[in-house]
Amino acid sequence: MKVIKAMSYADLSKKAAIVMAAQIIRNPKSVLGFATGSTPLGAYAELARMFADGAVDFSGIVSFNLDEYYGLAAAHPQSYHYYMRQNLFSHVNINPDNIRIPNGVAVDPEQECAEYEQSIQDAGGIDFQLLGIGRNGHIGFNEPGEIFTDKTHLTYLASDTLSANSRFFGPGEKMPTQAISMGIGTIMRAKSILLIASGADKADALSKMINGPVTPQMPASALQYHRDAIVMYCD
Ligand code: F6R
Repeated sequence: MKVIKAMSYADLSKKAAIVMAAQIIRNPKSVLGFATGSTPLGAYAELARMFADGAVDFSGIVSFNLDEYYGLAAAHPQSYHYYMRQNLFSHVNINPDNIRIPNGVAVDPEQECAEYEQSIQDAGGIDFQLLGIGRNGHIGFNEPGEIFTDKTHLTYLASDTLSANSRFFGPGEKMPTQAISMGIGTIMRAKSILLIASGADKADALSKMINGPVTPQMPASALQYHRDAIVMYCD
C-alpha cells in the first residue's frame, strides 16, 4: 500500500482527481468504481472542472458505485443515485447507459446483488476503484464483522455508520438501516484502488488499517494485501 499525505482537503481533492483523470486518459474505456459520502465531493468537483477545461473525456467510461441504501429510490435526495447525479454525472459526458448503481428498491435484493456482481464481471472487472473509509474502518458498507464478505450483498449498517450518516438526513427523514454493497472481494478484485480520507475522526481507522493486523474487524485492512492500492489522506 502506498501512503500519501496531502497538505489539506483541497490538496487531497486535487491529487485524487488527477489520479482518476490519469486513469481515464490512460484508458478512455476504463471501468471505474465510485464512492459517495463527504470525502470525494472535492475530487468530484475537480473532475467536473477538468472536464469543463477539456482535459478529460468520460464518454467511454463505464461506472459502478460501491453501494446504495436499501429502501431509497433513485429519486430520493439521500440516495446515492441522486448524489452521483448531483455531484458528478450531471457535470460530465458519461453515457447514462454506462452508469450502474445498485437498485435500492429492488423487490428481490438477492437477485439484484447477484446481477450487480455479474455485470461487474461482464464489464471485465473494475480497473480503478475510489474508496472512502468509515470511522469504524468500513469500506463500501462492509462493516466490521467476523468474515470478509466476497460479493455484492445486502447488509445491515453498523450503529456507528447509522450515527455518522444520520447527519445527511433531516429530522423527519427515516434513515435506512440496510444497504446493498460490493463485497470486500469485489473491491479487492479491482485492478487499482485509491482510498481517500480526511479529518481527525478517520485517524484511528487509518492507522489501524495501515499498521494493524489484517482482520474483518477492520475491513479496510484487507487493502494491505492489494498489489496496487494508494491511501491518500489529510489531517
Ligand atoms: C460511500 C461508502 C462509504 C464512505 C464512508 C466515508 O459510498 O461506501 O464507505 O466512503 O462511510 O464516508 P464520508 O466520506 O462521508 O466520511
